[in-house]
Amino acid sequence: MLAISGLGDLRARIEAWRADGRRIAFVPTMGNLHAGHLALVERALVLGERVVVSVFVNPTQFAPGEDYESYPRTLEADRRRLETAGVDLLFAPEVRAIYPHAVQIDASYAVPSVGQGLEDAFRPGFFSGVITVVKRLFDLVAPDVAVFGEKDYQQLCVVRTMVRDLKLPIEIASVQTVREADGLALSSRNQYLSAREREIAPQLHGTLGEVAAAVAAGETAYPQIEQEATERLRVLGFEPDYVSLRSAETLRPLSTGARSGVVLGAARLGRARLIDNLIF
Ligand code: PAF
Repeated sequence: MLAISGLGDLRARIEAWRADGRRIAFVPTMGNLHAGHLALVERALVLGERVVVSVFVNPTQFAPGEDYESYPRTLEADRRRLETAGVDLLFAPEVRAIYPHAVQIDASYAVPSVGQGLEDAFRPGFFSGVITVVKRLFDLVAPDVAVFGEKDYQQLCVVRTMVRDLKLPIEIASVQTVREADGLALSSRNQYLSAREREIAPQLHGTLGEVAAAVAAGETAYPQIEQEATERLRVLGFEPDYVSLRSAETLRPLSTGARSGVVLGAARLGRARLIDNLIF
């Protein structure tokens, strides 16, 4: 596996693969890789003839006071895992390579409506940062296909919309959330949980499951269902940001009587902020 941090080296390698007619699959990550990331890599290995994984902790998607400085950086361990997984190229740029002039968002493409509300209400600026870095990485890697996790469901919708709006010739593939045996969605931020919080954490998934089951069974009082779920999380010890029933395609509030959709939830638990969702 090649490990590259410079843009020139990256371009040369991508151009050589392109000249050979290789189909390139790309997995953007912020590193500290776990089984959830490796599931994305597995999918990329199926979808592409050459697989590129980026490891870059993107400063513009962290608000002041969030965990940018302390975000776990484990590049050497990540490199070993990617090599074992069969990845062709690890791209781990410095901040100045991605942001040569200033560490700021690129406002040329505004966050689409699917990126408003939910995460955006609690992490203003987050999607502007994600769009900025994903677009730059797409420009550099020029993949045929890029793979994202469904755990960050709104992010997946935002990226799909951006690719469509900008007519980028990139297929976006998604992979189901990988969970611990007790249902907790894998996340690098789970390591912020204390032992006691770790016991409570799977209840976010459990609560979303109850919401989805209620709707699938025909209950239609969505605001009440959302509020009861939020309250349940609070009683369990979470500080919930939202539990919300939405259309799985548009992320608009679920229309009355719909039996399928997505329920998304986010809640703080100690130092960690957990997000999860369930498509039903
Ligand atoms: O989902 C993530 O890990 C990040 O938001 C991403 C897509 C790698 C952009 O920094």
